[in-house]
Order: sequence, then structure tokens, then C-alpha cells
Amino acid sequence: MIRPILIHPDPRLKKVVDPVGDLSDDLRRVADDMLETMYDAPGIGLAAPQIGLMARLIVLDCIKESGEAPRPIVMFNPEVIAASDEQSIYDEGCLSIPDQYAEVERPAEVDVRWMDRDGNLQEESFAGLWATCVQHEIDHLNGKLFIDYLSPIKRQMITRKMQKLKRDRARD
Ligand code: NI
Repeated sequence: MIRPILIHPDPRLKKVVDPVGDLSDDLRRVADDMLETMYDAPGIGLAAPQIGLMARLIVLDCIKESGEAPRPIVMFNPEVIAASDEQSIYDEGCLSIPDQYAEVERPAEVDVRWMDRDGNLQEESFAGLWATCVQHEIDHLNGKLFIDYLSPIKRQMITRKMQKLKRDRARD
């Protein structure tokens, strides 16, 4: 089921959310919905707070080449356990901030630990777009958006555009 995605500014996108305890079929269903919602958007990552669910859960798939097999990943309680000194810059966007992009600098490589949908602990190193995406999504679980890395002026500009977008959508 495709879920509506919250648009910034929204207080739910500014909250630090609690870890997931025991996995349930309900949570697995939400994860499936999030993947469906992400692919439909289309996007390469989505965090639970973006659909209004306050749980440490993210989904991602950064395979963008057509013809390559998709690689959907569901992460409960994801944690960056190591980050490279080397940084990389990507032009980031966010499904909660449609059509706005800005360069953000982050560690180029990160090791991430998480619980998969079967409740098993996983650990993997991510580089390139995957590294950027997983850090962006984990930020969502801490109430942080990519525009928080920008200057206050740029952030305000984007926030005003989003307020207008929300007003326009509410009118339609
Ligand atoms: Ni985002």
C-alpha cells in the first residue's frame, strides 16, 4: 500500500524517534509499504517518520541503472558504527522536500549495523551513493533533514517554498 509522504515543515520530521523493540508482522508490513511508496515516488530511500510512523526504520535501494537487479534493503535500528575521514559531496534531495536539491558533504564510506526484517543483525560497508543515502535516511530518525546542513538563508528559502507547496496542495 502506498502511503502519503509528509512534506517539510512538519513537527514529525523534527523528532528523534525511538528504537524498534520486537519485530512484528505489522512492522514488516509497514516496511513493505515503505518500499512500495519509495519505488512509486520514485526515490532511493525512505524513513518511517516520513510516513508519520515514529520508529527507527528505513528502507533504501540505490540501484539506479535500468537492467540492474533491484536491491531493496530494510533496516531496523540502523547505526553508523564507523565513518571514513574521506568526505564526498552529493547533490541531495528528499521525498519530503520535493524538487529541491543541494550539495551536502558527508563521509564517503560508512559501516552500518542494523536489524533485518528477520530480526538478524547485519553489518555492511557502504560507499558512493549508498553511503550518502543511508546517512541521509538515518538522519531522518534523528529529526535531521539535508537542508539542516545548508546555510540558514538557503534553508529558509527552501522552507518557504515548501510552505507554499503545502498551501497550494491544500487548496486543490
Ligand atoms: Ni529524505
